[in-house]
Amino acid sequence: MPGMFEGKVALVTGASAGIGKAMAEAAAREGAALALGDVAEAGEGVADALRKKGAKAFFLRTDVRKKADVDALVARAKSELGASPTVAFVNAGIEGRLGAPWETTEDDFTRVIDTNLIGSWRTIAAVLPGMIAAGEGAIVATASVAGLVGAGGLAAYVASKHGVVGLVKSVAIDVAKSGIRVNALCPGMIETSMVDRLADSAPNFRESLLALKPMGRLGVPSEAAEAAIWLASPAASFVTGHALAVDGGYASQ
Ligand SMILES: NC(=O)c1ccc[n+]([C@@H]2O[C@H](COP(=O)([O-])OP(=O)(O)OC[C@H]3O[C@@H](n4cnc5c(N)ncnc54)[C@H](O)[C@@H]3O)[C@@H](O)[C@H]2O)c1
Repeated sequence: MPGMFEGKVALVTGASAGIGKAMAEAAAREGAALALGDVAEAGEGVADALRKKGAKAFFLRTDVRKKADVDALVARAKSELGASPTVAFVNAGIEGRLGAPWETTEDDFTRVIDTNLIGSWRTIAAVLPGMIAAGEGAIVATASVAGLVGAGGLAAYVASKHGVVGLVKSVAIDVAKSGIRVNALCPGMIETSMVDRLADSAPNFRESLLALKPMGRLGVPSEAAEAAIWLASPAASFVTGHALAVDGGYASQ
């Protein structure tokens, strides 16, 4: 059976690890050729593993805080994979430091907003001209359940992710008549190095998290990635401007 993204080029930022890596693997399984970007060079290994499985894929070191980097990733997709991406997983993000908002430095706050919110805008703005020219496209931006509800100790992160949800809703309206859908994925806590870093920085972080989880467990990257694949696929053809919680029921409480 042909995959849902057969013949399409898909771009993934934050593709070197965690949810982005799982998105790249799932998109490749669905037949996409992959343009992978990340600041971490481990993305080279992700692309290599996909090529060994028969997919077309390349990795380019890409910092979403730099417009030129994101533009270069899109340009390389065109030159190496033969087309601009018509599927984009706008996923790169950082958690920032856990702490009270009045103790957060301006540099830390700015870094989180620059990466998570403005980085999402840079990536969306870079892929849209190609999608508009193609008359089709699907963008899934990884926000978070922290884009739907607050979370103590992570003010910059929560603000950035609420911003991503607002960005998605607004852009979705702008491009709805161009055949392009734009949605936000809102994962709850997923077992990745991001959660490990947070757990390392605060005693009992993991235990207190689990106490708040209806399912009594965190998610795994593939559970977030599969929801993103659905949002980007033709199966979700009438879904746009939506923020989909993939959180084991956390935000329902
Ligand atoms: N893990 C969770 O519980 C969780 C929950 C909700 C949302 N998210 C979001 O999911 C996305 C992926 O996170 P993850 O959990 O896989 O974390 P992760 O730390 O495992 O992966 C994030 C990736 O983004 C990359 N990255 C960081 N800054 C970058 C930059 N400036 N430019 C390009 N790449 C950059 C990192 O190198 C890393 O490979 C993030 O946007 C995160 O906010 C994660």
